[in-house]
Amino acid sequence: MSTPVEGDALEHRGCVLQQPAPAAGGTPQFGCEPGSDWRQSMSMIKKLIGTRISLAPMTSEYADLLATWFNDLEVAIPTGDEAWQTITPDGMRERLASSQHDFLIVAHDEAGDTPIGRCLLFAVNHIDRTAMLGICLGDKRHWNRGLGGEAIELLLDYAFNLLNLNSVMLGVFAFNARAISCYRRVGFREIGHRRQARLIAGKYHDAILMDLLAEDFTGHRIRDLVGPA
Ligand SMILES: CC(C)(COP(=O)(O)OP(=O)(O)OC[C@H]1O[C@@H](n2cnc3c(N)ncnc32)[C@H](O)[C@@H]1OP(=O)(O)O)[C@@H](O)C(=O)NCCC(=O)NCCS
Repeated sequence: MSTPVEGDALEHRGCVLQQPAPAAGGTPQFGCEPGSDWRQSMSMIKKLIGTRISLAPMTSEYADLLATWFNDLEVAIPTGDEAWQTITPDGMRERLASSQHDFLIVAHDEAGDTPIGRCLLFAVNHIDRTAMLGICLGDKRHWNRGLGGEAIELLLDYAFNLLNLNSVMLGVFAFNARAISCYRRVGFREIGHRRQARLIAGKYHDAILMDLLAEDFTGHRIRDLVGPA
């Protein structure tokens, strides 16, 4: 796969959410004071609209929020290398400045729109029509509500029906039963294990590779937008 060096090293060791760091000089685009009310500071531009969540374009404006999420080890350990990397708002801003196919997951609730996580495609290869998928609900209060699955379905619709990809793959640690169950429910199949992919507290853990092909994807939101052929 034509994957950047850093992504190559990481991609079979979990559900990696970091794009390779950009060259020096990435310019922060927006700022948000730590502790400020995210709802008031963000205008939610939604690209992919779901029932209970939508996907909004990711921008550097959300760097502080992402840094907060990825410094929570309950979130970062199952996610991947975020657990040991130094994640700062400024570092996150630099990464986001060059990030593509990257979305904020926004929950629709009584109070309005609440950012609850991030999902993205990376290692996108338009020759072989392949990509890797990463997802993380940084706000733990929203785990186990089916929202992760809904976000993945929207991202897959974008991957297969707008980017015209054919195969989307992900890596997940074998200890991450919640994620594996969620991925199976949306149609991912296990295609192999990378043994002893991660060493945590003296114990090795396998990474499970799962994939989904365009021909097995049944989502139709984007197809419905253009009507019958
Ligand atoms: C993984 C993640 C995206 C899943 O999103 P979610 O909205 O919580 O998941 P869903 O509610 O859609 O599905 C969770 C499934 O796991 C099941 N589950 C929950 N806890 C479980 C556990 N301890 N053991 C086994 N299954 C469990 C739920 O019953 C549900 O099963 P179902 O699909 O049969 O209904 C989200 O939990 C998350 O971001 N976690 C932290 C970071 C992470 O792990 N990222 C993925 C890295 S590969």
